[in-house]
Amino acid sequence: MAKMRVTDRDGIEHEIEGQLGVKLMETLREYDYGVTAICGGLCSCATCHIFVDPEWIPRLPAPQGDERELLVELQHYDPSRSRLSCQVDFTPELDGLRLEVAPDE
Ligand code: FES
Repeated sequence: MAKMRVTDRDGIEHEIEGQLGVKLMETLREYDYGVTAICGGLCSCATCHIFVDPEWIPRLPAPQGDERELLVELQHYDPSRSRLSCQVDFTPELDGLRLEVAPDE
């Protein structure tokens, strides 16, 4: 099992087990940290917005067009670390990934 370290909206860090081979969002929405993912991963709601630790950003595939277009519309968009967790696969290479749940829009 691979881990991810998730900081919730209260600033508390949790170490949780991530489900490999599925999107980060699938794991995050099982917890009460603020990722609601109301569109179910269709890249249309942005309620899965996270900030990835800048150290980890280079290890993630770059965001594609749909994700980029939605991210830049967000009030809390941070070009250096914003991602939609429904667009990022959790792979063994991301074991230990550190991220923060973005504020509610
Ligand atoms: S779950 Fe809706 S955009 Fe990611």
